[in-house]
Amino acid sequence: MQHIMEAKEDMPKNDTIKLRNKHIGKSCQLFYKTDPLKIVRGQGQYMYDEEGTQYLDCINNVAHVGHCHPKVVEAGSRQLATLSTNNRFLHDELVKCAQTLAAKMPGDLSVCYFVNSGSEANDLALRLARQHTKRHEVITLDHAYHGHVSAVMDISPYKFNQPGGDPKPDFVHVAPCPDVYRGKIRDCDFPEGTDLGQLYADEVARLVEASPSGIAAFIAESLQSCGGQIIPPKDYFKKVYKIIRDAGGVTIADEVQVGFGRIGTHYWAFEPHEVIPDIVTVAKPMGNGHPVGAVVTTPEIAESFASTGVCYFNTYGGNPVSCAIANAVMRVIEEEKLQENALNVGKYLLEQCRALRFEYEMVGDIRGTGLFVGIELVTNRKARTPATKTAKAVVDRMKKVHKILVSSDGPDDNVIKLKPPMVFNAANADQFLYAIRECLSFMENQEKGQVNGGSESRATVPMPASVTGGLCNLANGALSEKRDQMIKSV
Ligand SMILES: Cc1ncc(COP(=O)(O)O)c(C=O)c1O
Repeated sequence: MQHIMEAKEDMPKNDTIKLRNKHIGKSCQLFYKTDPLKIVRGQGQYMYDEEGTQYLDCINNVAHVGHCHPKVVEAGSRQLATLSTNNRFLHDELVKCAQTLAAKMPGDLSVCYFVNSGSEANDLALRLARQHTKRHEVITLDHAYHGHVSAVMDISPYKFNQPGGDPKPDFVHVAPCPDVYRGKIRDCDFPEGTDLGQLYADEVARLVEASPSGIAAFIAESLQSCGGQIIPPKDYFKKVYKIIRDAGGVTIADEVQVGFGRIGTHYWAFEPHEVIPDIVTVAKPMGNGHPVGAVVTTPEIAESFASTGVCYFNTYGGNPVSCAIANAVMRVIEEEKLQENALNVGKYLLEQCRALRFEYEMVGDIRGTGLFVGIELVTNRKARTPATKTAKAVVDRMKKVHKILVSSDGPDDNVIKLKPPMVFNAANADQFLYAIRECLSFMENQEKGQVNGGSESRATVPMPASVTGGLCNLANGALSEKRDQMIKSV
């Protein structure tokens, strides 16, 4: 496409840095702080810097159907050239978007409110819950992040627990994150078969019992991403939802990061837990880079919200352009079978990542589902001591040497996270697997004092028996029949 070929910088990178330092708030985060990237265009699962260097994007769950997907760009451009106004006028894109979202939801989740971001969605979800229950208290999970506006910063330990964060309000109660690897209740401390979901749910029950005026809502990501790609133990959500509902509260599933087919097996990440939330919040992937989000709830809760007589109005929430884009994103997910792709490529990626545990002592845990994967690095496997420094070094090396963008997260910043655009394919998985092996080998060699040459020299990546049947040794892009078979069979 013409505009892609023309993508270039307006000023040299150093000037961009200077202007940013001068005019952009210091607290605005920058990836790769000491050597920031200047990205001038994106396409599919790739991003390109000002010199045309291609990076494999394993970070962006926002560019869900691929950066600048032509069908999404076309739908947005066409609508922008036709009409963009607020949702107090009738518009077909708005009602079609609500209809599609509702059709994707189970149970009674059929009433939508449109917003511009995940923060707005969670803020509105709290208002709905509080209005419906006539209560104010909220239970949130440790390490959770639900957005940047005041009401949701209050329920985001990820932020308020930072040294300079505002103190936690009394009406917020923090339950332990159901992380069975390094959380409060660990699988290694209990006999096999112990119901860890029950133990973690008991923690929520205790908070409910101690609540002074009753719980309005329990909010959680269906799979906690900021907590370090956490997969809660079996039946955790089932038990927690029952506790909350029995106590008269409502349940909110934050699907801002993990919704829209990312987990492969289901469209929504709450579904494998066999629960139906009372309120679901969605955003990021919904607009593929355009700011759009939604809150989906039941007619009953919507009725309570309407009963105040205070109208909900949001100048941009549900504007025709945002809705046309969201509709295009949801169409592309179906047309290109991206949920199926997440399932198949994700299974292959996860299986191959699991082999890393047998090859590298520093790989403590591998977990994930679909294209949502976490690699937890430790300095001591038995004690599960977080390898924070190593994780940062791996993230930097993946970018510098391999041109692959990954991030680290978790309470101790020691979990390498993958949440790439859903067009991530098997060749990309192989590219990632080769690179991560090289980085982990390099780190191991460094620890042993065996690095020859500078940081740019590559470690020789061993091919142990566990992976010679794997595919990471195939030449780049050489998709073999064998790989296709493997991907189908895992
Ligand atoms: C789980 C979760 N919820 C909500 C938000 C807030 O979304 P936004 O940045 O679109 O306001 C985020 C953002 O990272 C998130 O990760």
